[in-house]
Amino acid sequence: MKIVTIIGARPQFIKAASLSAKMANQDQMQEIIVHTGQHFDQNMSDIFFDELNIPAPKYNLGINSLSHGAMTGRMLEKIETIVLDEKPDWLLVYGDTNSTLAGALAAQKLHIPVAHVEAGLRSYNDRMPEEINRVLTDRLSSKLFCPTENAKANLLREGIPDKRITITGDIMQDSVNLFKQFATPPEFDIPERFILGTLHRQENTDDKQRLHEIISAYNAIGATMPIVLPLHPRTKKILANTPDVHPDPAKIIMLPPVSYWKMLWLLNQAALVITDSGGLQKEAYFNQKFCITTRDETEWTELVEAGVNTVTSANKKKITEAFRDLINKQFTAPLNLYGNGNASEKIMKHLIE
Ligand code: UD1
Repeated sequence: MKIVTIIGARPQFIKAASLSAKMANQDQMQEIIVHTGQHFDQNMSDIFFDELNIPAPKYNLGINSLSHGAMTGRMLEKIETIVLDEKPDWLLVYGDTNSTLAGALAAQKLHIPVAHVEAGLRSYNDRMPEEINRVLTDRLSSKLFCPTENAKANLLREGIPDKRITITGDIMQDSVNLFKQFATPPEFDIPERFILGTLHRQENTDDKQRLHEIISAYNAIGATMPIVLPLHPRTKKILANTPDVHPDPAKIIMLPPVSYWKMLWLLNQAALVITDSGGLQKEAYFNQKFCITTRDETEWTELVEAGVNTVTSANKKKITEAFRDLINKQFTAPLNLYGNGNASEKIMKHLIE
């Protein structure tokens, strides 16, 4: 069985790692990896292939740093050619990036069935590029692998037939289980007690008021406990060009993007996580850390219901209040909200069947 896998952005490398390893060990499966090039820096891409042992891509499309339409369009054109040449049995996509949508659209138009890992997630915020990508990808997919019951219920409400949907648990749990033994401290001075922050979502970085609120909250909280902030290139560029937003270097320790092994170490050592990332909300939970989510909503509603994730929007007052509420609280949530770390095994079995 031949699978063409499309990956291109950091979270997709993390999600693909365990399933690609499983496919590599199965004689009856041949995986062809296509890297769209969406993420391309050494520390946003190459380091993940090295640390996570992901097989080298057969194709690297080198498409990045374009507007959404141009990026998705160019990917669509190149992936179509690859699908025509490779004639796979399945095209596999992960998550909700522009690379995901381009892959799904190219394959479905050529009548190659699409399998979507992390299907059924919804923020119900149509202004997010990720929401547009995931709704359309789910609609185009023949096999939808959902991390949770909630995700499946979202798909059923949209009229996706039950027989196309399988609940597998969350594939990021597989990656944490596989790689936590390699957790490594970053090569920077990290204080003993710190908060781990990340900030990269377009709705936060491209809105000056929201960016200002989040950075002000970081400055305020950083007076009590320093924030360690590995900075996404998007945010770095925007902060450099927004002189009236002032991250205080005495309170916020900005790092370049860190590798997965270093992120696992930071997650394990942090007192708390403040993020607008999707994946990090769950990785905080897998490490039994509370999370403050600086967005208006979250797709991972189970974490909110379990009381371990507080959604504050980009609101300084709410973020600092949540910090005060959570910093000395005991983490007592059940640890199996996202399955038990065998999502990749289940996905592979289903593809073979
Ligand atoms: C993308 C995904 C988002 C995901 C995120 C993970 C979409 C719509 N968004 O957002 O869902 O959470 O990846 O990180 O697909 N850049 C670099 N070096 C890199 C990568 C990016 O400098 O290695 C720069 C780009 O040139 C661009 C900016 O960062 O200016 C944003 O990159 P882009 O790929 O457009 O989106 P992300 O914000 O990374």
